[in-house]
Amino acid sequence: MTTDTIVFSKELLEKVKEIIGRYPEGRQKSALLPVLHLAQQEYGWVSPEIMDYIASLLDIQPIEVYEVATFYTMFHLEPVGKNVIEYCRTGPCCTMGGEEVYRHLLDKLEIKTGQTTPDGNFTVKEVECLAACGWGPCFQIREKFYTHLTNEKVDEIINDLSK
Ligand code: FES
Repeated sequence: MTTDTIVFSKELLEKVKEIIGRYPEGRQKSALLPVLHLAQQEYGWVSPEIMDYIASLLDIQPIEVYEVATFYTMFHLEPVGKNVIEYCRTGPCCTMGGEEVYRHLLDKLEIKTGQTTPDGNFTVKEVECLAACGWGPCFQIREKFYTHLTNEKVDEIINDLSK
């Protein structure tokens, strides 16, 4: 995939234009986060080629896109599985048993952090606090939160999503 092969659809370009229009003239860089989200929805992840293309759309340097996309864990910089499990590895969740449950999750899926299961169904990513500290351990899959995790609950969730 090269920059030349990345061309957003007409519909996507319309959305980009609408988002850029929300900001004052010359401040099109402000559209970067929502445009990255759009691209990820379309392609499933944001490759360097996609980031370069976004830079050209927003008339900014590619490094300005890389800086943002690599800072936020919600952006996938490699292809991911159908269900991306974003597991909280921050202190409060760890003290509530998060480490043991995390090991169980990886063992159950037979993968390591950052990997995708061979069937392409699950990817596990470590993330910082998901703002659900009082309900930990927890993880997020797309917009859904799973809280008060135990090994048994993890088994149920994985089995359900494997059907
Ligand atoms: Fe896990 Fe805050 S520490 S959600």
